[in-house]
Amino acid sequence: MTIRLAASILSADFSALGRDIDAVTRGGADQVHVDVMDGHFVPNLTIGVPVVKSLRKATTLPLDVHLMITDPDRFIAPFIDAGANLISVHVEVLPHLHRTIAQIKKLGAQAGVVLNPSTPVSAIEEVAADVDFVLVMSVNPGFGGQVFIPRSLAKIRAVRALLDRVGNQAAPIEVDGGVDLNTVASVVDAGAEWLVAGQAIFGGGAAESAARALKDAAQRASHGGRR
Ligand code: DX5
Ligand code: ZN
Repeated sequence: MTIRLAASILSADFSALGRDIDAVTRGGADQVHVDVMDGHFVPNLTIGVPVVKSLRKATTLPLDVHLMITDPDRFIAPFIDAGANLISVHVEVLPHLHRTIAQIKKLGAQAGVVLNPSTPVSAIEEVAADVDFVLVMSVNPGFGGQVFIPRSLAKIRAVRALLDRVGNQAAPIEVDGGVDLNTVASVVDAGAEWLVAGQAIFGGGAAESAARALKDAAQRASHGGRR
């Protein structure tokens, strides 16, 4: 397993994003998770393309852009032009998911599909061989600092089994929501390799050490792990 820590800037200080990203980079974060919300698909508004463009100048880490928006197809090219390296889209809003995934890849980014807590794993069965990664939501999207939904562990295992069954062993599972020092080992044990964390990193005022502690815990859990 290759653990990657994705620092979610949703819980960072928006007036000092460069400083906060530098801190988590020193703490071992592997990618910057950017939560884009439109006030329609989820009940919150966050940030858009211009912020990603500025982040691109502020970090060399991959920008992991999670689109929680009703019409992601319209914004894939602008986000990739702005510097996004990974784009994840929710299956719940995409009737032509196969085409959307192909478009993300064609434009040069890695394509991820996201499942809300109430969305069954079967929703991605037909595209499981095509994706670069799967993002399992372990809270209902919209806000940082929510409590991890325990049922997500079974879902991570089921997604891992699906990806393996269709020959996509290389595609990692990313998990998003409520990942902290209490939940990280169980998430890794279930088969997640990319760990999004916002509140657990930025919530306590010492982002560098919090990132380092979370990544160390994840790596320790992965050593006892499945593969
Ligand atoms: C929630 C977002 C998450 C969020 C996670 O809708 O997709 O990325 O920032 O925050 P924590 O780690 O605080 O649960
Ligand atoms: Zn997210």
